[in-house]
Amino acid sequence: MRTKIIAGNWKMNNDIPQTIELINGLKTALAAQTVKATVIICPPYTSLGVAQQLIAGSVIKLGAQDVSLYDSGAYTGEISVAMLKSVGCSYIIVGHSERRQYHHESNEVINQKAKKVLAGGLLPIICVGETLDEREKNITNDVLTTQVKGCLAGLPAADVEKSIVAYEPVWAIGTGKTASKEQAEEAHRVIRSVITGLYSNETAEKVVIQYGGSVKADNAKELLSQPNIDGALVGGACLKADSFTAIITAA
Ligand code: 13P
Repeated sequence: MRTKIIAGNWKMNNDIPQTIELINGLKTALAAQTVKATVIICPPYTSLGVAQQLIAGSVIKLGAQDVSLYDSGAYTGEISVAMLKSVGCSYIIVGHSERRQYHHESNEVINQKAKKVLAGGLLPIICVGETLDEREKNITNDVLTTQVKGCLAGLPAADVEKSIVAYEPVWAIGTGKTASKEQAEEAHRVIRSVITGLYSNETAEKVVIQYGGSVKADNAKELLSQPNIDGALVGGACLKADSFTAIITAA
């Protein structure tokens, strides 16, 4: 049985006072229940330090939203894996569609970042997903196959088994349009079968595949009850303690 993993991608939201308020709210809400899922928050870089202190002793784990390809040196504005490790991160999102779209990140770059993250002892959350245009052209499965193969290229099975893949259909992100449970489950099955083809059924069965794209308190349960949907990567709904908690409860 794969443990469900619920991650909140804060994107470019929350200054320090807002970070403190949100994490304190989350800790209070989660302390009132037995949390069975793994819970991760991915605040912006500026909030990671305060988040690390606030989550100490709670079930909440820390992640970052991106990372540099490089280890150190003259890369103005970049943050390394070692820096993120030292501020308490255990997970790093790589290849989010907003990075692919606005920063032109390719599968090759995302693959290199995933390798960096794993080499540094952290775990990547590798994002894949088709655009609306690609879905309408009926090439979703081809797009997902190319992305999964490109992002996992050269990774040994043991690393893939620890990694998280997030299926985030671009047309469902921040739009309020969620993939139906059937659409999401089908995409997750495709992703898992690509991993089976690249490695083995045993490896594919270990990989946690999250769904992301307008996950809310009221649709989380039906999505998370699908056999191949092992968690959620949540955007908008993770910015409020009550809605994020409701998704965690659903898991
Ligand atoms: P929304 O939940 O706001 O659609 O965002 C999803 C996402 O991009 C998480 O990484």
